[in-house]
Amino acid sequence: MRARTWHLGDARQSLVLASFADRLPEVVYWGPSLPDSEDLNTLAAASVTDVTGGMIDANAPVSLNPEASLTFPGQTGLTARDASGRPLAPSFRFESETASEHGLTLVFTDSSLGLRLGFELTLTPDSSLLKLQTRLDSADEIQVDWLAAPVLPAPAHLGEMIEFSGRWCAEFLTRRLPFAPGARLRDNRTGRTDHAHFPGLIVCGAETGNTCGEAYAFHYGWSGGHRMVAEELADGRRQIQFGHASAAMAPGHSFRTAPLYATYSPAGLNGAAVLFQRHVRDHLVKGARSPRPVHYNCWEAVYFDHRLDDLKSIATRAADLGAERFVLDDGWFGRRDDDTSSLGDWVIDRRKYPDGLTPLIEHVRALGLEFGIWFEPEMINEDSDLHRAHPDWVLGPADQTRGRQQLVLDMSRDDVRNYLYDHIANVLANNDVGYIKWDHNRVLPVVDSDQTEGVYALLDRLREAFPDVEIESCSSGGGRIDFGILERTQRVWLSDSNDALERQRIQHDAALFLPASVTGSHVGPRQCHTSGRILDIGIRAWTAAQRHMGFEMDPRELTPAEADTLRQVTVWWKANRDWMMRADILRLDSADPAVIAEQQLSQDGGRFAVFAAQIRTSDQILPQPLRLTGLDPEATYRITLTNRGDVSRLSRGAPLLKDRDLDVSGRYLMSRGLNLPWRFPQTIWVLEGRRL
Ligand code: DGJ
Repeated sequence: MRARTWHLGDARQSLVLASFADRLPEVVYWGPSLPDSEDLNTLAAASVTDVTGGMIDANAPVSLNPEASLTFPGQTGLTARDASGRPLAPSFRFESETASEHGLTLVFTDSSLGLRLGFELTLTPDSSLLKLQTRLDSADEIQVDWLAAPVLPAPAHLGEMIEFSGRWCAEFLTRRLPFAPGARLRDNRTGRTDHAHFPGLIVCGAETGNTCGEAYAFHYGWSGGHRMVAEELADGRRQIQFGHASAAMAPGHSFRTAPLYATYSPAGLNGAAVLFQRHVRDHLVKGARSPRPVHYNCWEAVYFDHRLDDLKSIATRAADLGAERFVLDDGWFGRRDDDTSSLGDWVIDRRKYPDGLTPLIEHVRALGLEFGIWFEPEMINEDSDLHRAHPDWVLGPADQTRGRQQLVLDMSRDDVRNYLYDHIANVLANNDVGYIKWDHNRVLPVVDSDQTEGVYALLDRLREAFPDVEIESCSSGGGRIDFGILERTQRVWLSDSNDALERQRIQHDAALFLPASVTGSHVGPRQCHTSGRILDIGIRAWTAAQRHMGFEMDPRELTPAEADTLRQVTVWWKANRDWMMRADILRLDSADPAVIAEQQLSQDGGRFAVFAAQIRTSDQILPQPLRLTGLDPEATYRITLTNRGDVSRLSRGAPLLKDRDLDVSGRYLMSRGLNLPWRFPQTIWVLEGRRL
């Protein structure tokens, strides 16, 4: 049977689509780049599967939107009802195709139902990510309960998936699950990306590691809660669906999914991770300050207790340690002495700042630091002038359960967005502010995609008016991290956990999608406020230096020795940030599960830094060799143990790196690996490598 075929491809991967008899297209190939000689019609013909007893006479395809009308034996790509509530089961036929520079748009219609289904398919240049969106238009008003972004198959030979869960202070938890008949469903109905539901998935084999094996990775770029279906059909075929959380969209005529980003990697999890990292860093994020300034945030130093003199002396101390940006966190507005009041009243608290923010800002600026300020625009406290004036601006029912004693503003309303724009713009226009920390501290009372569109619109308007003001996305730490918010912001607050050990794990797993340049990481107080753990300044400082570095403790608590270490690590970070903030983060397959290790490799491959954190005591007494990755096997590299001064007195032997540098081939480093000195738990080795 003749088919229409399409090919999206580059040197890394090929995606081949075929539409038989003008029906919705299906992926007939997705994997390593195909040769130019490949005949797409042959691939289409070769994709046809057999039929045997106990089956209907043709297998309904895993099309870009599997159709109920074809008796698809799994989750369909669309669930919709007409105005009377009758389920719609469209049968789409080809209408048009439009090629663009890096992709194509395919449109299919069901004229009897007045429906048009469009697929926008792009392969991003350089970063090699498939960016896929579905659009549905209806002549009549309809209710759409589920609309999948273009649906992709998962291959039969890779039997596992890595999915993401988590919680406050433990974002990006990964879990490996085997595929099994039936659907693995995630339906995040929190109305935000959420700590527990990072919208990602990786399909891989049991043998896939960070540096080896195949992987197919997916991310849904949306901040309003997503639904994922990873399904193995009874016949063995597998499909991956992503879209907005179910029933999140109001009745209407037009519906569009967020972009689904997907990529194939023949080179382990890292092969996909670096493409996501590069896409965020080089294409998605716009207007990020370069070099990335060393950050200071005062939250864990003062909380709501804002006193001008204290803040000034903290800023002075932070600057002395190397900070280049000072962020005034929650507590500067309304009458915000704790978290029970004032959200919505975005006017400076004259009790705390009788002369406005100017004296603090002038002090900070005189130290040479940029000034940043905290907002939580989408939220409102009942104890606020805003709520007293506009109780009707609240989203959801009046008797809803509060979250952190607060309610949510209805961001789909023009008047709400205008109010917020005016108040935030007023602060930005009248003060020398270069940075906003944009917080969001509760889940939504209702699932509502218009809320997310409203937030995006407000962010876009502010960015347009104040293009030099950077914005950090925070949501009780990492509750709103996704490519939708990163199109509008320049940094994410990865977690409220400043515990360096926990942070090591969170950073490591977040690097499956996030580059260092957007990932905030702060040196917290000596005794961590969220874990109670007391950690040495060495691991605290180096952990922050692995990402966009910052401090968040009261710097006046530091002993002279601690301050010295922090100053030195900060100097090191500044000397290396130009290449490190553009480097690929490669997760290393540590032979010792007590060690979390990564290698940051410069764009030209000429230098790298390795961070190997001893999270807990190892089972084996000898440190296991640490194998590197991504190097030229034929080249020679000079390896330096950067913090060799941290060798403990219990390291009695003579591993070479303890005393001198090592010149070895990339092959040796990647095959045999490095012997490191024995070390205490909760410490870290930092190595630097240069190609000779
Ligand atoms: C939650 C954030 O994650 C913290 O960093 C801090 O900004 C507080 N909110 C302020 O209320």
